[in-house]
Amino acid sequence: MVFDNLCDFINVLEKKDNLRRISTEVNVDLEMAEILRRVMYNKGPAILFENVKGFDMPVLGNAFGTMNRMKISLDTDNFEKIGSRLTDILTQKMPSGILGKVSALPRLAEMAGFAPKIVKKGPVNQIIETDSPTLSFLPALKTWPKDASRFITFGLVLTKNPETEIRNIGVYRMQIYDDKTAGMHWQIHKRGAQHFKMAQEENRKIEVAVIIGADPATIYSAVAPVPEGLDKFLFAGIMRKKGVMLTKCKTIDLEVPANAEIVLEGYVDPENMRVEGPFGDHTGYYTAPDLYPLFHLTGVMRREKPVYLTTVVGKPILEDAYIGKVIERSFLPLIQVFQPEVVDVNMPAAGWFHGLAIVAIKKRYPGQARKVMMGLWGLGQFMLTKMIVVVDNNINVHDINEVIWAVTTRTDPKRDTLILDNVPTDTLDPASHLVNLGSKLGIDATVKWKEEGFARAWQEVVKPDQETEKLVDSKWKEYGITEDSTD
Ligand SMILES: Cc1cc2nc3c(=O)[nH]c(=O)nc-3n(C[C@H](O)[C@H](O)[C@H](O)COP(=O)(O)O)c2cc1C
Repeated sequence: MVFDNLCDFINVLEKKDNLRRISTEVNVDLEMAEILRRVMYNKGPAILFENVKGFDMPVLGNAFGTMNRMKISLDTDNFEKIGSRLTDILTQKMPSGILGKVSALPRLAEMAGFAPKIVKKGPVNQIIETDSPTLSFLPALKTWPKDASRFITFGLVLTKNPETEIRNIGVYRMQIYDDKTAGMHWQIHKRGAQHFKMAQEENRKIEVAVIIGADPATIYSAVAPVPEGLDKFLFAGIMRKKGVMLTKCKTIDLEVPANAEIVLEGYVDPENMRVEGPFGDHTGYYTAPDLYPLFHLTGVMRREKPVYLTTVVGKPILEDAYIGKVIERSFLPLIQVFQPEVVDVNMPAAGWFHGLAIVAIKKRYPGQARKVMMGLWGLGQFMLTKMIVVVDNNINVHDINEVIWAVTTRTDPKRDTLILDNVPTDTLDPASHLVNLGSKLGIDATVKWKEEGFARAWQEVVKPDQETEKLVDSKWKEYGITEDSTD
């Protein structure tokens, strides 16, 4: 089922026994985060807190905390198809010639249906506050004891590229300072920060809307590293095969999902920077305080009875791991457009995605593993990946034991490692020598060829004799060996 809003998704989760309601009173200060983390580490259900102390709206957490819920939310078992739909459009895999183009018309019409549509109003317009808007109604969580404050952790931050006017949404946390202002933690490599910088260069403020609670495809789109120049609402439409309905904000010139739960309207002023953090982050460490710009609230639009969507991050593996896995799967076809030899990719969740990528390639020429590493480090947010291990396509990148076997038997550290220094690193990397700048490690764990200077004969991988295998298969029961482990 394609979801148009968060509540329809909640209803389906409940029907599928994937959601628990908690009616006991709970506190936004640490208690809810502790509950959510316990449930997330246990791959438990989505949680709807119905009785939040001091607030009059329910809070939804762990909505996407299993692969099954990701499948339900995006209405697919095959996430790679999402990426293929995108690459088909980007590479215009359309038949050629007049007849071909004509036969492609239904396809183009279908694509037009993916585009966002502007409507006069929607459920998000049920309550509009522009005279004295406040952030105080938001049940934002304090998630770790040393967090600087309460944070909005799952807001979709909408900006427009000041030059092209193409819209972007990104999930960036926001530290609530008071009723009117919040810190905007858009990291330097992200598109929100890029738009901000462009506005800054023209000495102007940038208008910003923050969408809290929307249809799952729009939420996923905000997290996804969608190629530059593609409107993320269009990407959400491509994913759901149905355009997202947008309505105009009241105090700023931006369009937001008409079916959203809550929208905060405002601006970020380059003149106002403030210390943001610490915050217990995706890496499992507190990210140190740093200067970030300030979001100023100018208006609020919301449903009469909105659901506040939240998430909690920390030492992996938590809810964000499943969103990350879907990104890994759905963006494989896009990676393959630029690096066609890539057969598969695993970005283990324990490595908070940007820590490590294991890449299988079909090697055709000497040095190709290094070419792939460098290509990937130049590709969108893949630039933030700290370590890349390249293996041959006969290694299953999702089987860590097989990967370790390949790394330890196919790599000579001096010959097969590549270290790049003074390159961009993930803002959250606790180990880089500077914030945003450090080094990268590439490990070429493919079988080495003579053309790569490997003078010895490559040793043959052991394999059983086929006749003996058949014999042992046929006599297996006779031997009387039980299958039970002796552990
Ligand atoms: C739960 C969650 C919280 C996130 N918080 C931040 C954040 O505070 N700052 C940030 O720059 N990225 C954050 N991200 C990652 C971005 O949303 C992600 O990199 C996205 O692709 C940004 O897209 P953009 O560069 O197209 O705007 C978060 C992701 C998730 C899943």
